Amino acid sequence: MADELLTAEHLVKRFDDNTVLDDVSLSVKKGEVIVVVGPSGCGKSTLLRCLNALEPIQGGKITLDGEAVVYGSKNLAAIRQKIGMVFQSYDLFPHLSVLDNILLAPVKAQKRKKDEAAAEAMKLLERVGLADKAKSFPRQLSGGQKQRVAIVRALCMHPVMMLFDEVTAALDPEMVREVLDVMLNLAKQGMTMIIVTHEMQFAKAIADRVVFLENGEIIEDTDPNTFFEHPQTERAKQFLNIFSFERSKKDEKN
Ligand SMILES: Nc1ncnc2c1ncn2[C@@H]1O[C@H](COP(=O)(O)OP(=O)(O)OP(=O)(O)O)[C@@H](O)[C@H]1O
Ligand SMILES: [Mg+2]
Repeated sequence: MADELLTAEHLVKRFDDNTVLDDVSLSVKKGEVIVVVGPSGCGKSTLLRCLNALEPIQGGKITLDGEAVVYGSKNLAAIRQKIGMVFQSYDLFPHLSVLDNILLAPVKAQKRKKDEAAAEAMKLLERVGLADKAKSFPRQLSGGQKQRVAIVRALCMHPVMMLFDEVTAALDPEMVREVLDVMLNLAKQGMTMIIVTHEMQFAKAIADRVVFLENGEIIEDTDPNTFFEHPQTERAKQFLNIFSFERSKKDEKN
């Protein structure tokens, strides 16, 4: 279909004889926000890594913007530049300032003019509330600030879509909000995104669709209201119960 930006059809991913993705099909329309949830080890990170061809697949087909995404192919560098990815660990270069971290790929890989890219980087930093940190080094930033820089760094490449893998999982609770707010704003501006998160309230608020993965299979793919209020499978019900149980334990402690 014309408005589908990314499609994955019948993906199979194995590590040796361990099948981690088993016939996974997923399509993402332009401007759509998909949240992927599921128990630890079910294959969420592997799915994102396969979509970005950071991992070879053993079966299936991935298409981005009409082009096949094939691990090891010649046009892969160009395709990867279209997909911004942010992980749990921010992996900023410690010896480079915030601004230089952001400019590295636009200037080196995309051969853009440094002042043009720097002007854009400053605008993006402003949008995430970090214009005053452009000259700071990563060690001088909080975890939440580093994660916002990592998001800006990805955005400065002009990706057609963004993948987020548990970007708030390593943050102190008070820093989670500021990073989630940046993602909510991106969604409002129409960015196409696939988000892996354990923040269920956030998932409910941001998702157009929720995909529930278990043992490498998509067992629910539905709108957030249906998923959170009327999950169709026993596994999804159990999964959501564990979350609400842990939440009430946390609330008791506070
Ligand atoms: N590089 C690798 N080599 C071998 N096995 C791997 C590799 N990466 C992941 N796996 C295995 O693939 C399975 C899925 O892992 P994955 O990291 O995708 O899970 P996840 O859903 O992201 O879990 P979590 O919520 O804990 O991050 C696990 O069984 C894991 O051990
Ligand atoms: Mg993971």
